[in-house]
Amino acid sequence: MKELDWSNLGFGYRKTNYNVRCYYRDGKWGELEISSSEYIPIHISATALHYGQEAFEGLKAYRGKDGKIRLFRWEDNANRMIHSAKGVLMAEPPKELFFEAVKKAVLLNKEFLPPYGSGASMYIRPLLIGTGPEIGVKPSKEYMFMVFVLPVGPYFKNGFKPVNMMITRSYDRAAPLGTGTYKVGGNYAASLQSMELAHENGFASAIYLDAKEKKYIDECGPANFFAIKDNTYITPKSTSILDSITNRSLQKLAEDMGMKVERRKVAVEELETFDEVGACGTAAVITPIHKIVDFDTKKEYVFGSPDTPGPVTTKLYEKLTAIHWGEAEDPYGWITIIDEE
Ligand code: PLP
Ligand code: COI
Repeated sequence: MKELDWSNLGFGYRKTNYNVRCYYRDGKWGELEISSSEYIPIHISATALHYGQEAFEGLKAYRGKDGKIRLFRWEDNANRMIHSAKGVLMAEPPKELFFEAVKKAVLLNKEFLPPYGSGASMYIRPLLIGTGPEIGVKPSKEYMFMVFVLPVGPYFKNGFKPVNMMITRSYDRAAPLGTGTYKVGGNYAASLQSMELAHENGFASAIYLDAKEKKYIDECGPANFFAIKDNTYITPKSTSILDSITNRSLQKLAEDMGMKVERRKVAVEELETFDEVGACGTAAVITPIHKIVDFDTKKEYVFGSPDTPGPVTTKLYEKLTAIHWGEAEDPYGWITIIDEE
């Protein structure tokens, strides 16, 4: 295993040994190839570069308490990549190819898989791009599917510690019938200005509202939003947000903890009534939110203590991460063990 300061990794790019690649040409996917280069040669007129034919995924591998390497809900990521590919008219990587590529990329870079107990995990980044040259606006005939991996710590600096976020109506992330449910680069480009505004003002992230009415909460930067009130887990229903696999997992755990689950529109003013609020995602895991400042109305919404996550958020975090690390049973079939070592 590599000598790295595993407990203080942060969420940044790091070179690992290998990545895997597969090409779609003449209407079919080829063989999976292994590469040790971090670079890809690309046509100057590739549709990914000009017209945003690009989609990615994010999932994690964990070295469990028993030493086994676990993938969390990979099939849901494969399905979402297919959904994104359909959304911007790209060739869809078959699920078996997705799994083989993910497994290979993780196992080839095993020495970068953080040790159990460090809190770090291996982030897996599948990427699909249109590589064929077009100059008219139309889908490519050729595609490239890649998977690379890197060891990561928490996305938000302090891990499971409350952060502050802000609401702005000056920028929209995605339109109601736009690309918000697809994990495509364009949505992230559209989020850069509001994220920068949030960071400049000392917030961990911007919270997006629905782009049409600017009344309802959509999501929190690269994570979904959830709130806790009266033994109920509440999360936005919207046609412009990513269907978060972490959020779906938390909904199931909350239900099994005897809570009610509501997926519905969440108006900004309702923030006043919530006991606990948080962001959830693969990279963010669960990030509790202490304060939300509405930049336009100047209203501040405060939840719990600035240092300690709320009790329900903590319980959900413990339940989810215990499954990740193989510390608890996995009654839902969320884990795939890819190495018995
Ligand atoms: N929302 C956005 C915009 C994201 O980028 C992510 C990260 O993938 C999420 C939500 C969380 O989704 P998941 O839990 O599937 O990682
Ligand atoms: C993830 O949680 O996997 C994400 O995609 C977040 C990423 C944009 C950093």
